Amino acid sequence: MSKIRAIITAVEGYLPKDVIDNEMLSRMVDTSDEWIMSRIGIKTRHILKGDKGPSDMAKIVVDNILQKKNISPDEIDLIICCTVTPDMPFPATANIIADKCNIRKGFGFDINAGCSGFIYGITTGTKYIESGFCKKVLVIGAEKMTAIVNYEDRTTCPIFGDGAAGVLLEASEDSPYGVIDEVLHADGVGVKHLHQVAGGSCHPATIETVMNRQHFIYQEGPAVFKWAVTKMADVTEELLEKNNMKKSDIDFLLPHQANLRIIKATGERLELKDEQILINIDRCGNTTSATIPMLLYENQDKFKKGDNLILTSFGAGFTWGSVLVKWAL
Ligand code: UT7
Repeated sequence: MSKIRAIITAVEGYLPKDVIDNEMLSRMVDTSDEWIMSRIGIKTRHILKGDKGPSDMAKIVVDNILQKKNISPDEIDLIICCTVTPDMPFPATANIIADKCNIRKGFGFDINAGCSGFIYGITTGTKYIESGFCKKVLVIGAEKMTAIVNYEDRTTCPIFGDGAAGVLLEASEDSPYGVIDEVLHADGVGVKHLHQVAGGSCHPATIETVMNRQHFIYQEGPAVFKWAVTKMADVTEELLEKNNMKKSDIDFLLPHQANLRIIKATGERLELKDEQILINIDRCGNTTSATIPMLLYENQDKFKKGDNLILTSFGAGFTWGSVLVKWAL
């Protein structure tokens, strides 16, 4: 029996032009460039201004993918948008992107898996291809995190930024390349440590929820840190073992960008050299579901055909996971 594989055949990304640097933040809250650089490793983050949403950034990503591949919107079977900051509570942002990009022959939905959104999304898209149900799947991570950042909370506001990036997955028979394997995990013990209280059906918007700033990110940083600092390496080791691979088989690590200290600890556990660990947190901050596809987009020229890429993430839920991609381009 031949095996259908999902291959990444195009990657695009978009960052809004406006940025907030640490000097600007230190005029808003009691913080400093020195504290943010030493504790988190972020210098600047991009910000999408006005009433634009993730779908506007994703439209640019999708249009560029379609143009580059010379593919008609009618050929897309499925569009998955990974986001915790949808344009609106419903319908899915995937449907809004599809409308803006004139994709009308397929179907789509959103995935909310916190910062692991893209890891869950690429796994889901891959399964739709491997089952034979779809041939061309778009997986986009798109976030306007600055819409839910409390710029009065100095421990949270330096972290997040906006952006969108995504991939086209295409079916290929018996290819040695593509998305090879995945391991995903979740543990609801993390709900209390990282969430947004209001805006859902339990606490719909009221004057009180707005006054109490409950529509913003609530994060207990040190509690999340404790989990994040080990889980990406743990799940990557699990994935390697499942595939009879060694740490030395990894060519590049594309870790979620939440904190440079977490990224470094993960890289060290996996015994990787600095140049194998891809980083953009200094320029982009934490763009949640967009961090990993943005790393793919920015570094694609470095990858050689057959390189083993490990995509790994930890985020709200808690959710975490790791994906092995054998680069095909
Ligand atoms: O992406 C989803 C998953 N999220 C993560 O993986 C985030 C994980 N957590 C973290 O990255 C870190 O916990 C933070 C970056 C959020 C916070 O860093 P931390 O080193 O854990 O700081 P802390 O919250 O333990 O605070 C240490 C000190 C406190 O002062 P005292 O109590 O020791 O006097 C804070 O008040 O640093 C203070 N502090 C700040 N000082 C200057 C907190 N934020 C700031 C700030 N500027 N922005």
